[in-house]
Amino acid sequence: MTEQDFIPQSYQRKVIGGSVTWQAPSNIALVKYWGKKEPQIPANPSISFTLDSCKTTTTLEFKRKEPADKNITFELYFEGKKKEDFKPKIKSFFKRIEAYCPFLTDYQLVIKTENSFPHSSGIASSASGMSALALCVMSLEKELNPELSEEYFNKKASFLARLGSGSACRSIEGGLIVWGKHKNIENSSDLFGIKYPHKIHEVFHNYRDTILLVDKGTKQVSSSLGHNLMEGHAFAEARFEQAHRNLDKLRDIFETGNLKGFMEIVESEALTLHAMMMSSNPYFILMKPNTLEIINKIWDFRENSGLPVCFTLDAGANVHVLYPEKDVEKIFEFIKNELVAYCENEQYLCDRIGDGAKRIDN
Ligand code: PMV
Repeated sequence: MTEQDFIPQSYQRKVIGGSVTWQAPSNIALVKYWGKKEPQIPANPSISFTLDSCKTTTTLEFKRKEPADKNITFELYFEGKKKEDFKPKIKSFFKRIEAYCPFLTDYQLVIKTENSFPHSSGIASSASGMSALALCVMSLEKELNPELSEEYFNKKASFLARLGSGSACRSIEGGLIVWGKHKNIENSSDLFGIKYPHKIHEVFHNYRDTILLVDKGTKQVSSSLGHNLMEGHAFAEARFEQAHRNLDKLRDIFETGNLKGFMEIVESEALTLHAMMMSSNPYFILMKPNTLEIINKIWDFRENSGLPVCFTLDAGANVHVLYPEKDVEKIFEFIKNELVAYCENEQYLCDRIGDGAKRIDN
């Protein structure tokens, strides 16, 4: 598929107004996306677990404008209050998707959005937020063209979400999602995320993710700045190739349920992401002392207990602790007894692999 396939040719129906509500989850990357080209084309393929409880709920109200004009006009409410400072991000999202959703200028839009996780938790809401909004826009398109297939709907929702925030394209469907062209993953694309098409051992069906909130402050480096730092980075090419290789290695690991192999790749990916930031110009350290304390505790516990618990990191100090459902009792006990003390105000979030976004108004 190409970008052209996402431009609607005609509309079957006229829609005066209405409203739609979607709930979309966050996701956690196992092989990280870090580095991109315009327009939001990833420098390397990535794969993530779709999460379940960390999510955004967004309602889009639309009413046909009389008289019509050529601008996309909208109001924005966050947790019930008008939120002017979020508007520029949404405005540039709408600008980017206008060519693919020209019908948006026909409507006066009202967006009402809220997150299941606290705003100042250091958890990025761009993946769940952009995917929820993209899905709402797609539901409006579906009202105009009721015959859109579910497959096209999901692909275009992911395509639109990507234009809002790259990793958001991995938050439409559930389970394991790949984004970015990889020669050995059929139908993988730089334009949208797809469900991982190869065999997945049952141990990966019910994975847990306990998110330890080490630092709830706003991000020291925005992800767009971070991605840009990969341009001209001394290690960029080697890193991009490594991501391709890691996806190849994961094929057998996912198929056989090789948890040791899984943990090695996931932790190495997290540390490589941070190594890229530490070796860019300018350079950053986004981990905090407590991030390292937690990592060392996880390694000690794993060594002593033999249990398959590992960590991953986003572009920040918080730690995602990943482990299979079957070991939840002992590992969660360890997390509560030994790791939570390193969190800001002892705060953490319990999440797990989820089924993807849901429309909740009908
Ligand atoms: O989607 P963005 O532009 O916020 O970038 C996300 C980058 C990481 O979270 C660090 C990695 C990833 O693949 O999600």
